[in-house]
Amino acid sequence: PSVSPPASSVILVTGGCGYIGSHCVVQLLEAGHGVVVVDDLSNSTTESIRRAETIAQRAILSFHQVSVCDTNALRRVFELYEFDAIIHFAGLKSVTESVSDPLTYYSGNVGGMVSLMSVMKEFGVFKLVFSSSATVYGHPHYLPIDESHPLAPTNPYGHSKFMCEQVARDVCRSDSRFRVALLRYFNPIGAHSSALIGESPLSTPNNLLPYITQVLVSRLPALRVFGTDWPTHDGTGVRDFVHVVDLASAHLRAVEVLGEEKEENCFTWNIGTGQGYSVMEIVRAAESASRKIVPLVLSPPRPGDCAHVVANPSLANSQLGWFANFGVEEMVRSAWEFQRWNPEVCFERCWFGGSLC
Ligand code: WQD
Repeated sequence: PSVSPPASSVILVTGGCGYIGSHCVVQLLEAGHGVVVVDDLSNSTTESIRRAETIAQRAILSFHQVSVCDTNALRRVFELYEFDAIIHFAGLKSVTESVSDPLTYYSGNVGGMVSLMSVMKEFGVFKLVFSSSATVYGHPHYLPIDESHPLAPTNPYGHSKFMCEQVARDVCRSDSRFRVALLRYFNPIGAHSSALIGESPLSTPNNLLPYITQVLVSRLPALRVFGTDWPTHDGTGVRDFVHVVDLASAHLRAVEVLGEEKEENCFTWNIGTGQGYSVMEIVRAAESASRKIVPLVLSPPRPGDCAHVVANPSLANSQLGWFANFGVEEMVRSAWEFQRWNPEVCFERCWFGGSLC
């Protein structure tokens, strides 16, 4: 791919080698932005960026293997460019892992946010789009969940995302030059239509759809269905799944909106479809897409799980001008196609016995 021409806007993407980050890099390149990626490669490889460049037929400006927690290394990247905005994906994201290792989650996620925003202030970069999560809401008090819903995370991962949001809110209150968009993701799934990038953890996935697709390629024996007696239409958990490509486009819209003159300087938007689907509906969609059967093991509910989590996305629709385009069939089909064509590719690096797998 050709090297990007000097672009009017240069965007720094932290965690740009990851699942959502790489899909965002594709759209930033396709929109003509200059893109710089920092990633510590603790849970990804640069293969996803190479593939993102192939999809967009444009190259990023540069990649730096840097942790956002390494403030000095981050400074050295900020010295190279005049960034128009920062999109901050880098962080740890496993609820289960956060329960057993909260200190790593607070130092990585909250420490990383403080380090990044400090360097932004030092270099006069004030536009930030942050990858937050519906986990900050905890168990729903009402449905669908809007941005005014009480914030009551139930695990260290959710607490760390809440604290990152609070850092941003307090910084915006203290310094009106900042412009921040907090995007609360519901359940991102799916893959780019090229099947070149997608969600493909090498270690056993925690989330539903990557687990199902690994069962479909026989990397896992069966899907455990966590709870079949929930108060839902079919007894299985209901979630608000959103296509990763739709999710990525919300970040580009957020960068644009942050460039507009507004009264406020800190915005919070739910990124979901407002439509819930059950575990069994996702299973059926995967069986239809793959023309295979997903073996099931009906199991007790997972600790901390709840029956329904569905977004009210009307604020993102009206203020961000963002709407989900893809339905559940395309979300599941694209995830299956990615898994099918990349049965062994691992973008998420993990270590077995000390050797890189
Ligand atoms: C979805 C549904 C499970 C796996 C989590 C994080 C959240 C966000 C998205 C980062 C539930 C059921 C799952 C399986 C199953 N991540 N399930 N068998 O728990 O809604 O949200 O991921 O921001 O922070 O909490 O997503 O995909 O784990 O579960 O039955 O093997 O599928 O019980 O009903 P969840 P999930």
